[in-house]
Amino acid sequence: MFLKILLFLSIFPNIVSSVTCEFCVQSGNTFCTDTYSCIPPEVSCQAPINVDFVCPKAPRVQYNDTFARTRMMVIASAAKSLSENTQDCFSNHFPTTTVYKTREVNCSNTYPNVTCLAYTAYDDTEQVIILGFRGSQGKNQDLTLSENCVANGSIPFFTNGRVVQAFYDSFMFLWDGGIRQDLRRLAYLYPNYKLWIGGHSLGGAMATIASGYIVKTGIFRGEDITLVVLGDMPVTDVVFSKWHWEQIPYSFHVIHRNDNIPRVDPFDPLNNVTMYHSRTEVWYNNYMREGDNYEVCLEAGASFCIRSPQANLTWDDHNYYFDIHLPNWGKAGCPKNLTGFNQE
Ligand SMILES: *[C@@H]1O[C@H](CO)[C@@H](O)[C@H](O)[C@H]1NC(C)=O
Ligand SMILES: *[C@@H]1O[C@H](CO)[C@@H](O)[C@H](O)[C@H]1NC(C)=O
Ligand SMILES: *[C@@H]1O[C@H](CO)[C@@H](O)[C@H](O)[C@H]1NC(C)=O
Ligand SMILES: *[C@@H]1O[C@H](CO)[C@@H](O)[C@H](O)[C@H]1NC(C)=O
Ligand SMILES: *[C@@H]1O[C@H](CO)[C@@H](O)[C@H](O)[C@H]1NC(C)=O
Ligand SMILES: *[C@@H]1O[C@H](CO)[C@@H](O)[C@H](O)[C@H]1NC(C)=O
Ligand SMILES: *[C@@H]1O[C@H](CO)[C@@H](O)[C@H](O)[C@H]1NC(C)=O
Repeated sequence: MFLKILLFLSIFPNIVSSVTCEFCVQSGNTFCTDTYSCIPPEVSCQAPINVDFVCPKAPRVQYNDTFARTRMMVIASAAKSLSENTQDCFSNHFPTTTVYKTREVNCSNTYPNVTCLAYTAYDDTEQVIILGFRGSQGKNQDLTLSENCVANGSIPFFTNGRVVQAFYDSFMFLWDGGIRQDLRRLAYLYPNYKLWIGGHSLGGAMATIASGYIVKTGIFRGEDITLVVLGDMPVTDVVFSKWHWEQIPYSFHVIHRNDNIPRVDPFDPLNNVTMYHSRTEVWYNNYMREGDNYEVCLEAGASFCIRSPQANLTWDDHNYYFDIHLPNWGKAGCPKNLTGFNQE
């Protein structure tokens, strides 16, 4: 309750400042969030905003911590199970969820033994179709992604801005490798079901691109999509992210404390464009245990919720979400007994 009141109170001053901030930035000035004032760009300020997309905005739906820590955590972890046992994660926690198909495809043009994985599932109780993406694994996949980033940067996404090509390519390998067909089939079989999309790390980046792609292709409407991703990297530019915010009201990306991956350098020098996460960021500056506090970030961009974006970043905080080692837990089939999977 205390937390709810805090969140509630913190939203109101910012509704006013959102308009003020956008007006300020669009007129070529800087909006200073520490003083809530509009200042000339040459005046210094601790937390300046120079891009209108970054201006504070309350999310269009309320963030639900329980939903993220129970459902979306399992959805992201299930993608880590070996392709034959994706179902185990659901059987252990949500037995009404049935995995429809798991797709694992070769997703590197340059290195051997690099695969991407995604699966589709459905749940008659919740009346939803589920789409989950796996994070990267192995040195060759990391090399594939980073070399593609350096060589190719970002590419246009229809007429709605740009996305980082490496992540778009990974997604397309899966989309063409069966996911499109499986999703269309499920949408045909269950025409009234909504769609939940999730993933962790690379899986979260692909999930974000997928949500936009699915809206573009008209398989689901943005209002019927729930997107919650964990520890993903910034892979979409301002134009995409604004469009995405308009299309998909239920969209959150969750960051654990000092997770290094969401804070990777978001600049694409080939095209002189900065990448962002799609709104809205939720930051847990703790172990993410049940009842732990979190901040729903009203600003977009790396330097607001987490005030020193480059300080003390760790891989540990990337792998642990909701106080569970996500890759190991997923690989083990998401056992109910959490002994050995907690951070400390
Ligand atoms: C939050 O999510 C949980 C678990 O899915 C659900 O039971 C609960 O009704 C949700 N709360 C709200 C306010 O939507
Ligand atoms: C994956 O694709 C690359 C490039 O096309 C090829 O070199 C590699 O052998 C393929 N790997 C598998 C397992 O098919
Ligand atoms: C292929 O990659 C997987 C995942 O990284 C790894 O477990 C496996 O040992 C690799 N196999 C070969 C032949 O390199
Ligand atoms: C860059 O993009 C091209 C065209 O899609 C692709 O063939 C190539 O493999 C990419 N480069 C790297 C290093 O991934
Ligand atoms: C890069 O983009 C920034 C901001 O949009 C602009 O001010 C700058 O002139 C651009 N630089 C180049 C080399 O195009
Ligand atoms: C980083 O960690 C050091 C040592 O634990 C601590 O003193 C410092 O305050 C931390 N910095 C931030 C920005 O959290
Ligand atoms: C959970 O797992 C640990 C280690 O594998 C084991 O020692 C413990 O007895 C298990 N707890 C329960 C309640 O099964």
